[in-house]
Amino acid sequence: MCGIIAAASTRNVGKLLVQGLHKMEYRGYDSAGIALHQNDSIAHLRALGKVQLLEDKMVAEKPKSKLGIAHTRWATHGEPSEINAHPHQSKNNVYIVHNGIIENYIELRESLIKDGYEFLSQTDSELIAHLLDLYLKQSNNMIDAMYLAKAKLEGAYAIAAIDINDNESLVVARNKSPLLLGLGTDEILAASDPLAIGQLTNEFIFLEDGDVAEISAEAYTIFDANKKQVTREITKIDISSQATSKGEYKHYMEKEIYEQPQAILNTIDGRIGGDDVLDNIFGLGSAELFAQVERIQIVACGTSLHAGRVAANWFSSISELPCQVDYASEYRYRNPHVDKNSLLITISQSGETADTLAALRYAKEKDYLGSVGICNVPTSSLARESDFVLFTNAGPEIGVASTKAFTTQLAGLMLLALSLAKSRELNPILRKRVVTALRTLPEVIHETLKLKDQILAIAPAIASKDNALFLGRGVFYPIAKEGALKLKEISYIHAEAYPAGELKHGPLALIDENMPVIALAPESEIAEKLVSNLEEVKARGGTLYVFADPSVTMDVNNGAVISMPKCDFLLTPIIYTIPLQLLSYEVALLRGTDIDQPRNLAKSVTVE
Ligand code: G6P
Repeated sequence: MCGIIAAASTRNVGKLLVQGLHKMEYRGYDSAGIALHQNDSIAHLRALGKVQLLEDKMVAEKPKSKLGIAHTRWATHGEPSEINAHPHQSKNNVYIVHNGIIENYIELRESLIKDGYEFLSQTDSELIAHLLDLYLKQSNNMIDAMYLAKAKLEGAYAIAAIDINDNESLVVARNKSPLLLGLGTDEILAASDPLAIGQLTNEFIFLEDGDVAEISAEAYTIFDANKKQVTREITKIDISSQATSKGEYKHYMEKEIYEQPQAILNTIDGRIGGDDVLDNIFGLGSAELFAQVERIQIVACGTSLHAGRVAANWFSSISELPCQVDYASEYRYRNPHVDKNSLLITISQSGETADTLAALRYAKEKDYLGSVGICNVPTSSLARESDFVLFTNAGPEIGVASTKAFTTQLAGLMLLALSLAKSRELNPILRKRVVTALRTLPEVIHETLKLKDQILAIAPAIASKDNALFLGRGVFYPIAKEGALKLKEISYIHAEAYPAGELKHGPLALIDENMPVIALAPESEIAEKLVSNLEEVKARGGTLYVFADPSVTMDVNNGAVISMPKCDFLLTPIIYTIPLQLLSYEVALLRGTDIDQPRNLAKSVTVE
């Protein structure tokens, strides 16, 4: 989704701003732009499509500047086009970049038109430039103008603005959309994503909602929501040392799939000991709080929601707790009833998903015992706003389609199920069994990745179709949903998942030779029933691709049965995810899609 980078420096900033945009490409975007202060004018360049096209324009024009703002846009209001790309400007005086959504934009736009402002784009963002221009005339300084504008703006925003009359400083503002400062050598930076400026500094200041900051090459000043000057903590993170290159792999997604044995090890490392999960791995006091829990509510989006649906089974079987799972975007709108002693769990790779954060903030007003976040980004808003948090330690995930973030979320959620059971003094033998199995999990994943050749053999048959059906039962139904999501995200094949028992209540009508059916058949008490469901597909000419326990045998028309490595049943959902990731990757490769940045999608969805 949209990305902001801004810099005030003693050197030329054009190149570093464009490099920062490249670093944010993984988030998903459709256009890019830059505004560079050149003392009495502003170089304003924009391009529809890839950042490289903007870079080509920069190379042609070679603008020199020590102060600038740049942006990658992911369209919300107005189609992807050069005119709608940021930065937006007002009367060549003020240039802005914006992430988020201005909810009252229609009303503000109308009033600005009455004030004589002309709108060139279809975006909600352009009005911010006009508002700042209007208020600059009244106040003559950008900080005051920003506070006057903020008083009018409703919604979520991170803004960076430059004023033609000030070639030394720029102003940024944050409300419900991530924004941080980076303290470099002879330069100060601002960005919506630490990765954008991680090569330039390892000192960051995470701004809070309501903050406005002014930055120049030598200094920065931060004001809070009440315009009081404040000091915010400096956080040191060495982002440049975190692997963010593709290495020997063709795509980040492929690399991230193969990183899973190590990523899972990083999730469980230092959190289990002897026969059990260690105490308070979710934070000091979490063990006591968990002892009081009587009910669980999970909220998340996308892949993270699927992790929640798997974990709900574990909370039931291991922690003996009822659990409800909601899409974060729906949760607030169903007037949720909160039972006594309920625990809220949010799951988010980025920790910045607007719907998940909004659900967390909404839940804080309700009578929950507390909130637990399962998150991959320690510096995220979700990590800061949750009472307790467990970092999945998967390392940066760049591919838009989530892979290692998902399996590490599952490992983290398993640790949570075990911790709840331990605090509630339940199931010690089962806990020991799962802890032992967790230790072998990285090795089993490593084995599972060796299925690649068998997956390569079936990929062409699926790549040539327009639809696919995924089937699973019980805890494997959310895994089937995750498999379908992966396939549709990166190969653009329409894919749906069903609990296999529901097949005859509708989807069976879709089965013919053009509908490949991908099924998950682990050894379980329902394996036999699942095989009968699959017979129904076979009898109607459907081709089956079954990932199965070696004990499950069946005949599958022209399809394939791929035997899965053995592991403890409770952890098999993690293992069965791996071939589905490989399959969607290989199918997308055959179809020639943009695997790491699929069309229309964003890595971190920071608008509701
Ligand atoms: C986007 C991403 C998905 C992700 C979802 C939730 O849709 O493309 O991969 O699962 O957001 O993101 P989160 O960061 O909250 O896990």
